[in-house]
Amino acid sequence: MDSSETYWTDRALLEWQVELGATDAILDVPVDRYGLEAAKPAPKAVTPEKPAAVPVPVAKPEVDAVVLARTAAQTASDLGALSAAMQAFEHCDLKQGARSFVFCDGNPAARVMIIGEAPGREEDRAGRPFVGRAGQLLDRMLEAIQMGRAADDAARSVYITNVLPWRPPSNRTPDKDEIAMMLPFLERHIALADPEIIVLMGNTPCQALLGRTGITRMRGNWVEVLGKPCLPMFHPAYLLRNPIAKREAWADLLELNARLRG
Ligand code: URA
Repeated sequence: MDSSETYWTDRALLEWQVELGATDAILDVPVDRYGLEAAKPAPKAVTPEKPAAVPVPVAKPEVDAVVLARTAAQTASDLGALSAAMQAFEHCDLKQGARSFVFCDGNPAARVMIIGEAPGREEDRAGRPFVGRAGQLLDRMLEAIQMGRAADDAARSVYITNVLPWRPPSNRTPDKDEIAMMLPFLERHIALADPEIIVLMGNTPCQALLGRTGITRMRGNWVEVLGKPCLPMFHPAYLLRNPIAKREAWADLLELNARLRG
């Protein structure tokens, strides 16, 4: 391997560690732990008369993460308690790899609650939903109908959250177990925020709350979620990749605006 190959290999390994959540170098020089002979335990003497004990597998207690999530969510009586209950929930593996817990942004008293998928890289760093490129596009879309997450006026503001509060590695799509175990928290979140209208951004919140996907067919058609009118829309990240679809997104924004002002 020449020195440039070594550089790129080392750099890829370093980026991988940062992806996993490594934030600090602990020592100035790397330690080859395989080379630390002295640190290895001395081999145990084998007594021929005694057969080696056969390890008995210890059964891990089975937990139903969905049931535990439902109980934890139900006991939360306000948004602060819900956030604390979610942060204390230890059954979603995404928590281990994420840097931040991302709960919400905007005005909890808003008439509109927007639900996205999960934090991406920027959101994981900032601890707030929709702050990366997709989030900036979302802000511009909302501005076009004189709405925004920073507005104090409940009629003009939005409240924003995601199906998952932890970033999936490499921004992969959340799997069905992750969605199922976090769904009781999302449902409680909706009940506590009690918005007038829900907007679902992309397939993941549709899968979670409507049990189906197919955003191209579903977008722009009002449905009901937990007794509330709900509008599925294209996810802004999809619009960044497919600018041609902004035409439909604009129609959906106008539809939302008409419903709010109608
Ligand atoms: N995409 C989402 O669905 N949510 C975010 O918070 C950021 C990007």
